[in-house]
Amino acid sequence: MDTQLELASMDATAVQDNYAPVHSEIEADKLVIRGELPRGLQGVLYRNGPNPRFPLPGLHWFGGDGMIHAIAIDNGQASYRNRWVRTPKWRDEDRAGRALFRTFAGKLPDAPAWAGKDGGVANTHIVQHAGQLLALEEGHLPTGIAPRTLETLGYVDFGLPTGPFTAHPKTDPDTGEMVFFGYNATGMLSTGVRVGAIDAGGALRHVQELQTPYCSMIHDFIVTQNHIVLPVLPLTGSLPRARQGGPAYAWEPGKAAMLGVLARGNPAGEVRWFEGPPCYVFHVMNAWEADGRLHADVMMYDEAPLFPHADGSAGNPARQQAYLTRWTLDLSGAGNSFGVERLDDAAGEFPRIDERRNGLPYRHGWFAAADDDGSGELAGIVHADMVTGARDRYAFPDGGVPSEPVFAARGADEGDGWMLTVVWQPETGRSEMQIFEACDIASGPLAAIELPQRVPFGFHGSWVAG
Ligand SMILES: [Fe+2]
Repeated sequence: MDTQLELASMDATAVQDNYAPVHSEIEADKLVIRGELPRGLQGVLYRNGPNPRFPLPGLHWFGGDGMIHAIAIDNGQASYRNRWVRTPKWRDEDRAGRALFRTFAGKLPDAPAWAGKDGGVANTHIVQHAGQLLALEEGHLPTGIAPRTLETLGYVDFGLPTGPFTAHPKTDPDTGEMVFFGYNATGMLSTGVRVGAIDAGGALRHVQELQTPYCSMIHDFIVTQNHIVLPVLPLTGSLPRARQGGPAYAWEPGKAAMLGVLARGNPAGEVRWFEGPPCYVFHVMNAWEADGRLHADVMMYDEAPLFPHADGSAGNPARQQAYLTRWTLDLSGAGNSFGVERLDDAAGEFPRIDERRNGLPYRHGWFAAADDDGSGELAGIVHADMVTGARDRYAFPDGGVPSEPVFAARGADEGDGWMLTVVWQPETGRSEMQIFEACDIASGPLAAIELPQRVPFGFHGSWVAG
């Protein structure tokens, strides 16, 4: 697609402070550790995020080349390594020595003819499935990454002809099946969505294609034991709008929020749509079913952040904060609306759980909390006890900014383990990995691993034990 689509907003231009990329690929061992690493914490925290190699003016945060950061803990010692994901785009730009693509826009008009059309950046998440480490970004197939060297191994297609493939697949804790979806499945800015499942061994079980009421940026979805829910929310994509010089993706509050419910494992099944007031969700904490109802805990915005309105005007920052919110869909009733209940007054993002409770009733959730100053900058971690309603909070001193909190299991019980986050310290310009007791965040970090290189603000990561 060579159509020139320009984002009308520069709000999300991201090359300053800890949004700025790092330019070195390094490895370092025997890192300085403050405090004491917990016995039993053994494995690697992998993180992924945008790290543009050739930043263009106006580059959207979402458009930077993926870079993997790996922090390994082995017998009380810690080491670090980082590598760009060498996507087809990265290799073409490496050869050209300059940027050849623009976010959501395909190749630049003056890109050389030899350059490919694949602008995938593999910059959003990194997960393990069927023994493979996968860098994910929702527009393209997963990219295989070598666990120790972080070498790029190329696309892993699981039998699919192409992407899109979500950066937020859900793994069933009982069967190991990975449920996935992909939007823009029938072309750029289309209403086609693909939904499917890959078994624990990496075999494609089934895949189906369906149409949504309108084209939406569907970043995450909801999976329970028996159902899949696609949140079609009014951060809309429009090819005609983009061709007229407007934004490819924009906030369009005249459209309703539409939640499409499918039965899992039934590719021929119908989609049932539930409707609610306009809102936006990047991330789902967890979801489950009980008594004919489906509950989903999500980080919900009144208005989508990081994107302009359809006329190109900037959004309202006061409405662009996400709050932990419960959606309830009555699957046994005849109605088509869903319930919305705010669960916490702290704005935040990046909700995570002990993934052994994926799609099941659960007790423990964590998210990164925003600063009270309304800036939206992340400044703390919240542990939410979903059963008692209790909250356990930690605010980072000296302006420290956490990444997504990732749970690392210790014992068999839900929540028995540690919470890991990479914290950027603006005063020193350095990053460190901090380790908390997962259900006692308020006591502060048990240990901190000083990293030899800044880790730019990124998106998601996984702890791989062992
Ligand atoms: Fe995400």
